[in-house]
Amino acid sequence: MFNDFKPEEGRPVYIQLKEYLKRLITNGHLPEHTKLPSTREMSELAGVSRNTVLASYGELEQEGLVYPVKGKGHFVGKVTTEKSPEASLDWEKKLNDDVRIACDMDLMKHGVRWEKGMIAFNSIAPDEKLFDVENVKRAFLNRMAIEGQVVLNYGYAKGYKPLIDLLFHYMEVKGVDLTGKDILMTNGFTEGLDIVLSALCKKSGRIICENPTHQSALKLFRLHGYVVHGIPMEEDGVSIEQLKEALSQSDYDLAYFIPSYHNPTGIVTSSEKRMAVMNLFSHYDIPIIEDGFNEELRYSGSHFSPLLAIAGQGNNVVYISSFSKILFPGLRVGWILADRYLIEQLESVKRARTIHTSTLDQALLYQYMHDGYFEKYLKKAKAVYKRKYECAWAACQKYIPYKRLTGDGGLHLFVELEDGVDARTLLRQCYAKGVVFSPGDVFYTNGGGKNTFRLGFSRLSEAEIRLGIQRIGDTLKNMLEART
Ligand SMILES: Cc1ncc(COP(=O)(O)O)c(C=O)c1O
Repeated sequence: MFNDFKPEEGRPVYIQLKEYLKRLITNGHLPEHTKLPSTREMSELAGVSRNTVLASYGELEQEGLVYPVKGKGHFVGKVTTEKSPEASLDWEKKLNDDVRIACDMDLMKHGVRWEKGMIAFNSIAPDEKLFDVENVKRAFLNRMAIEGQVVLNYGYAKGYKPLIDLLFHYMEVKGVDLTGKDILMTNGFTEGLDIVLSALCKKSGRIICENPTHQSALKLFRLHGYVVHGIPMEEDGVSIEQLKEALSQSDYDLAYFIPSYHNPTGIVTSSEKRMAVMNLFSHYDIPIIEDGFNEELRYSGSHFSPLLAIAGQGNNVVYISSFSKILFPGLRVGWILADRYLIEQLESVKRARTIHTSTLDQALLYQYMHDGYFEKYLKKAKAVYKRKYECAWAACQKYIPYKRLTGDGGLHLFVELEDGVDARTLLRQCYAKGVVFSPGDVFYTNGGGKNTFRLGFSRLSEAEIRLGIQRIGDTLKNMLEART
């Protein structure tokens, strides 16, 4: 005994020895009143210094696990090691239907498995090779030097004030009229949406949105018990005719739109359509959730105002966004910008659910933006993503016999194949050739989109993009030939 103690490198050895002995005591291997080896003996057995043993015994004593006897050494104290009769719950029976929905729609569990060496088009996460870690470190150290004690303590449910003020400015520059509005900080876009959904009355139980749409939003809508009605996407945004018709025929509790670099189609809703949407909704008592997640990733073309800006001083748009696609999704920071009264109520919901968003994350993001690193990074990232976007677009045109190709910028393109061509069959064949992508049906509200797929290119090199798309195209051509 004791000579099997093997400390790992990099952690204080006295803590590891304490934990080793604690485990032996709590497991009952060292019963009450057992004498521990003297510090000299233990130092030889465990291969550590006597001071290390002394420090470990001191810690064990403090925790009441051993007691000293003058002149005799250390003895094991009273520790309950008896176990109760073993319970065996059937957790499957304890879980509710929400869990089943979350599991069924969990793409991480049911999506295609990525294996090392594959060309994976299924991610739209930012390319971590671009992250300017040095400036993030600088920003972190700066903020910690200024108010380390503050950011490590509890913060406010509403969020970190300096970041809120910075975001007010950021949104004002986008043309948003801030009169009567306020901000609530959240754990990314996703928590923002969840909070809003949990706060709204469910009357009709119906949500209207673009079809296809963001799969995580669809998941949350279903988890909150909503029936989702999708309106088809046209080249320049949602079909206004069909939106009009749907609104005139049924009641809806809310609408959800992604006007810029829509996920999954990559379409940017035109100015005319943005205006048409807002004109239409001014006749209805329906809140609009605007997802502003990708707005910065425009590579060409003119500026588009968010729906929130078009709403002016109107209060029907709840704008939710984050920098997850532009900056660092590991910092779980997003925000809701909406009517002041609504935000005041949501603040209490936020407090009840998670107390507040990590102040450390918010403070780091604030300092990074405040110090001007954001603009610099954005410029660099956009130049790289633009090249990848152009490369992916050109490769799709060259290699893939598609019916429709969309994507006005951002980090992905969306491919629609001829009717009847199954993207999942194509995916299975591509998988065997080391290429994966996201089948489009997971984004559809009505089981459609079997002939579509999304190509996320952000984390691939231009060579991988070209090669991967060529392989998809070749596989598809073989598949089509085999059908004829
Ligand atoms: C449409 C859409 N909105 C928002 C987000 C960002 O979510 P979060 O901020 O929770 O990471 C994503 C990420 O993929 C997205 O696709």
